Amino acid sequence: MCGIFGIVVEQEQPLGETLIEAGRRLSYRGYDSVGCATLRDDGTIDLRKDVGKIEKVAERLAFAEMVGQRGIVQLRWATFGAPSQTNAQPHLDSDGDLVGAHNGNVVNNVELREQFIAEGMTVRSTNDGESCVHAVERYVDRGHDMIEAIRRAYQDLEGDYAFVIGRAGDDRLYAIKKGSGLVAGLLDGAACVSSDLPSILPLTRRILRVRDGEIVILRAGGVELRRVEDGNIIEREVEEITDSMESVEKGGYPHFMLKEIHEQPQVAGELIRLLEAASYVSPMVERMATARHLYLVGCGTSYHACLLGAIYLARLAGRPAIPVLAPQFIAQYGPALGPEDVGVFVSQSGETKDVLNGIRVARERGTGILGLVNVLGSTLMNESERYLPLACGYEISVPATKTFTNQAVAFLFLALRMGGHPTADLAHLPDLLEETLAAVEPQVAALEPALVRQDDLYCLGYGLTYPIALEGALKLKEVTYAHCEGMLSTEFKHGPLSAVYDGYPVIFVAGPEDVPLLISGINETTCRGGRAIVIGEEDPRLRTNAHDLIVLPQAGPLLNPLLATLPLQLLSYRLSLARGYDPDFPRNLSKTLTVD
Ligand code: G6P
Repeated sequence: MCGIFGIVVEQEQPLGETLIEAGRRLSYRGYDSVGCATLRDDGTIDLRKDVGKIEKVAERLAFAEMVGQRGIVQLRWATFGAPSQTNAQPHLDSDGDLVGAHNGNVVNNVELREQFIAEGMTVRSTNDGESCVHAVERYVDRGHDMIEAIRRAYQDLEGDYAFVIGRAGDDRLYAIKKGSGLVAGLLDGAACVSSDLPSILPLTRRILRVRDGEIVILRAGGVELRRVEDGNIIEREVEEITDSMESVEKGGYPHFMLKEIHEQPQVAGELIRLLEAASYVSPMVERMATARHLYLVGCGTSYHACLLGAIYLARLAGRPAIPVLAPQFIAQYGPALGPEDVGVFVSQSGETKDVLNGIRVARERGTGILGLVNVLGSTLMNESERYLPLACGYEISVPATKTFTNQAVAFLFLALRMGGHPTADLAHLPDLLEETLAAVEPQVAALEPALVRQDDLYCLGYGLTYPIALEGALKLKEVTYAHCEGMLSTEFKHGPLSAVYDGYPVIFVAGPEDVPLLISGINETTCRGGRAIVIGEEDPRLRTNAHDLIVLPQAGPLLNPLLATLPLQLLSYRLSLARGYDPDFPRNLSKTLTVD
């Protein structure tokens, strides 16, 4: 996820402040680097960009003094190419008369880059946004006008993205949408386009929502939409936005946590398509497959993804892997580590001190270091021999939600590849996640009154759902401040069962393969008056034995844990609000723990 914004005005004028403000309002989408370009009346392009947050970069490069008749700003969340000045966007074409920036992932960018170089173009970066500019340049150089060149470029660029591009000597900007967000805004004597509304609404409340496969042509006097398929003009009603700015920044959701929960189908789909096309998956799989001992290391939510990853690897690839909490990795395995071993270090932030301590020990012992990381440019990324980006975009809410899902998806993908299984079935996952959210929301809401005053509960799982039970319990603890213990369901009878009293709630996460075993656990609870709340697929055995059944779509044992995570996230969110807390910023916690 990155952010783009472009504006066209009637005559050359100072645009710097407008671009800074638009960029600031998109900075929730990425803060690895920022760049501004203005297209001037004399046909020159002023391009300034660098690594860092907008406030610092804008001051250092004096964005405020930039003038032009058109302007573009881009906020980068790195996926392809490390955060660097060269990889920062916008990008120029070979001879510097096209300038553009993108949001999203162009998954065939490595192949495209080779083609562009072979065709004699000047490619400066390893960032996929530059591919968008050269893809248009390719057809402009063959004599096509901008609209035709963009239509053809669209056929060459694979992935989910949106980009905005301008040409020196023209007076328009052009943008296109394929899978990533894009909205156009209409102003008096000006027009703008952006990845998201927060950057448009201070300028205008009159907007046009762009759909996939549409080209936007921005002139000072208005906005035109054309279908990429046939180039024909599309008529669309202008929409008037009445929502408050705060609600718009949260995508219409009251909290970032809820927004991020709902982003999961989209980010999972993006990651799956990215990994399908990525050249870096095979070497990573090879390194993991041939290690003497393979450790999966993380903390908190990321550790729960490691637990699930170990089950996927054993089951799908016959590869034993040892999931371990990062500090314990040092104590338990540190002295025994060797150069033949490999650690996969998993961290959303890539900066968790406990994880970095583990990496230091691995490095000292010559152990291989691989990373699963959401923040590119983080210490984990820089310390890793190889890494997979989780491509979730910025996760603002302290409780991790979408990054957990994509960590699990990444492990599932690696395990399928390692075991030589097809990955095509994963394409259904985004729809299943979407379906699950819609199905469980009312069911979770119905449970709220029974649980809202509960300060103590258990969340149990078995096999593939054991990590989900731990993750669900962590989510509940983090945002409701209640004590919730996650546990292997079969361990419950070895002690905690004594805590059960009349009405005591125990949540069971039931994988479709483990229903018979869970039925025993459920009955051990219910026969002592406990309230068994089960999350699982529709099953008469669960229905008759449980007090409550939150029904998940049928997805089979491998995808079921990913779906089962969602009602636990939603339940945590709802209970947090019902208890009067702010789920985005739970007390005493921090999103990134850079201390021991
Ligand atoms: C903190 C956060 C947790 C997170 C853990 C690991 O405790 O509050 O939500 O799971 O750190 O973070 P990481 O960035 O390494 O995944």
